[in-house]
Amino acid sequence: ELKEHTTIVVLGASGDLAKKKTFPALFGLHRNNYLPKDCKIVGYARTKMDHEEFIRRVKSNIKTPTKPIEEQLVTFLEKCVYVAGQYDQDESFQNLEATLQKIEAGRPHNHRIFYMALPPSVFISVSQHLKKNNYPKNGIVRLIVEKPFGKDLESSRKLQKALEPDWTEEEIYRIDHYLGKEMVKNLLILRFGNEFFGATWNRRHISNVQITFKEPFGTEGRGGYFDEFGIIRDVMQNHLIQLLTIIAMERPLSFSAEDIRDEKVRVLRAMPQIATENVIIGQYGKSEDGSKPAYLDDDTVPKGSRCPTFCAVAMFIKNERWDGVPFILKAGKALNEQKAEIRIQFKDVTSGIFKDIPRNELVIRVQPDEAVYIKMNSKLPGLSTQTVLTDLDLTYKRRFSDLKIPEAYESLILDAIKGDHSNFVRDDELDASWRIFSPLLHYLDENPEVVPMSYPYGSRGPPVLDDFTSSYGYKFNDQV
Ligand code: BG6
Repeated sequence: ELKEHTTIVVLGASGDLAKKKTFPALFGLHRNNYLPKDCKIVGYARTKMDHEEFIRRVKSNIKTPTKPIEEQLVTFLEKCVYVAGQYDQDESFQNLEATLQKIEAGRPHNHRIFYMALPPSVFISVSQHLKKNNYPKNGIVRLIVEKPFGKDLESSRKLQKALEPDWTEEEIYRIDHYLGKEMVKNLLILRFGNEFFGATWNRRHISNVQITFKEPFGTEGRGGYFDEFGIIRDVMQNHLIQLLTIIAMERPLSFSAEDIRDEKVRVLRAMPQIATENVIIGQYGKSEDGSKPAYLDDDTVPKGSRCPTFCAVAMFIKNERWDGVPFILKAGKALNEQKAEIRIQFKDVTSGIFKDIPRNELVIRVQPDEAVYIKMNSKLPGLSTQTVLTDLDLTYKRRFSDLKIPEAYESLILDAIKGDHSNFVRDDELDASWRIFSPLLHYLDENPEVVPMSYPYGSRGPPVLDDFTSSYGYKFNDQV
């Protein structure tokens, strides 16, 4: 664990991610005394700006609702320094090195965390220049990297290969920010700390699993980036597949990072590549009232793009626990609401005494409003014997109202400071998930006749969605 004398270098410090996520998360850690003692934060980017301008930008996404928080922000900003430089020139990185050495003068160690909040195009160059010019001589080094990790198995491998000569797997922390979300961190406890879940967590009792990601807004100016990747690469191959592996993995031998990640990899390796008949793709059109633009109306989106902004796939796991149970992943932009949830639908109860009684469902809501609830049947209180579908409900806001839920990035940066890899993506895990998705992605990229179905901005997705879900055995309550 890096307890003291650490410098955190944020590369890409003038970008959106750094502004919206990295610096606010670092401030959150500072406020709660989780940053190492004697910690400095160096922002590095191409934009030429003076210290004041940099501080103004850092502040712009940090809220200070109370006086004490305002004071904490002052002490946080005192830790921050900015260095402007190119991403492909040694002189720039030597200049960064001079600043780092000035900060570290008199320290017994020069521990450094490099946080790469960078576009993929400069990623390799920066990692090489850092190794050459800024690798600490007497301290621990950690390299935090952000997706996209390539576009398919081949390009992801290439990226990995480029890092390999310079950085060990031990030094690399690949972020998938979903792994830092409170409810996601709870999944292993829910599964393995509760005997009744453990006992029913298999193909004998579970009919199907749905993992859903919905956003109520479209690309809104971010179309250049998005169009190159699409919803499958942007959300599914990383965030949703992470949720799937944690839901499906066997019990790890321990909570150690390698034990956990070994089990995750094993699940992924038991999954066949996605078959194109198990997929629907969509792209949003204008909203029904015409007030919201279609994907293709976004100026940053190339004309005639076939990029999917919605996708649903059914995936399978060929092992004893899950064989035959569909895992339905759904992700979409410009839908009717914001939501990320896992819905585990159990099988029908043995027939005999009940006719058409709804199925149990365990719903784990990742966001918004973290909750775990179970839909279960109960007798309607009163003199009749009527049954009613009701909830066993753990809604965090009610049960843990006095506890603050940290931002995913706070939690992950803290893990990196502690040297805990459990919630970061290992290289073989990345390969395994790309292997499952790459053929589908190539098929979609290479076949111009495959066009996404249109759905209105603000709707639930393409109209065929419910039929798709039902075809894998999901029973809507109104079907019983
Ligand atoms: C990012 C995607 O990884 O995750 C975005 O690039 C998406 O397109 C975001 O909006 C969703 O994250 P969250 O934490 O808001 O659910």
